[in-house]
Amino acid sequence: MTDSQSETSPEQQVTAARKAFEQEFERFVRFTGGPRVLDGLNLEQALAEERALAEVRIRHLGKKSALAATKKLIGRVAPEERSAFGQRVQAVEAAVVSQLDEAEAALKSLIESQQIARESLDVTLPGRRPRYGHRHPITLLRERIEDIFVSLGYAIEDGREIETDFYNFTALNIPDNHPARGTQDTFYTTDNFALRSQTSTVQIHAMQRRGVPVRMIAPGRVFRRDTPDPTHNPMFYQVEGLCVDRGITMAHLKGTVAEFLKRMFGADTVTRFRPSYFPFTEPSAEFDFSCFKCKGSGCRICKNSGWIELGGSGMVHPNVLRTVGVDPQEYSGFAFGLGIDRMVALMYNLDDIRLLFENDLRFLEQFE
Ligand code: DAH
Repeated sequence: MTDSQSETSPEQQVTAARKAFEQEFERFVRFTGGPRVLDGLNLEQALAEERALAEVRIRHLGKKSALAATKKLIGRVAPEERSAFGQRVQAVEAAVVSQLDEAEAALKSLIESQQIARESLDVTLPGRRPRYGHRHPITLLRERIEDIFVSLGYAIEDGREIETDFYNFTALNIPDNHPARGTQDTFYTTDNFALRSQTSTVQIHAMQRRGVPVRMIAPGRVFRRDTPDPTHNPMFYQVEGLCVDRGITMAHLKGTVAEFLKRMFGADTVTRFRPSYFPFTEPSAEFDFSCFKCKGSGCRICKNSGWIELGGSGMVHPNVLRTVGVDPQEYSGFAFGLGIDRMVALMYNLDDIRLLFENDLRFLEQFE
């Protein structure tokens, strides 16, 4: 006990505690006795007052408060005065509590009504129109291609982007010493899986899963170790096509590709096939179509040749069929593959295919 406390009587100490409280509480008196006095406060001020009031409560009712100290004196006053003194302490405490409670309740209701007002909606304000997303140009083209082949009776296959050597190469009759196996062209994971370098891998999965006869296309991403430039990206899109049945000939291949290109670029589109080589087809051919812009007379898009090179194709190699347990004596088929990005670049006259993957909305918003 401090000197001053020992000099003043318990009674005086209670009075002092009460006075000290009244002094501090003065600024909160306006919050008692009705809500009209609160009107001038904004939400932030009301919240600050609420915090200040909580501090006053701790200072004057907490364990270390002067009032708490007076409670400890109850046992020390003379027995005949004890009951009266105890009642006085309790009465003071009750008064302090009720004043604090009243101010606090008023502040809380003010805060609540201000918060409700702030969160309420002004329905007369003009709305903010949500921005619609839309499909990427590659998706748009892929969907057109899918529509055409679905109408020709083809299923759409979803392949894997990470493959074993078997699917990416061996099963496609790509010999061990083929340059496409080298790390120069193909990305490998640290576990020696390949990021597929062509969608031809899906031919194998499709025949294994569906058996034959089969007709399917497989659009998807492929990866190659290319340095990006206006016509190359290390990741791009291809569509693979596969048709295997009894009696399938090169005429079916030519008819199918020609029909697809007519539906894609117009009924007057002409298709041509040039002999070529791919390990998984024999014979193999690359195909071109007459330029959709100049119709063959020569322009900037077709580099004055009148033709646009599009993809590779051929009759499925017997080794490929054997690998998936299909008898090449009984079944034959054709396959083809083409790049979607290049087609998008041609159709939309892009001078740099990297634009397709920069995700610049100013570019992407021009489609659809
Ligand atoms: N996979 C080849 C490439 O990426 C394209 C290709 C050529 C696919 C001939 C085929 C095909 O199905 O028969 O260059």
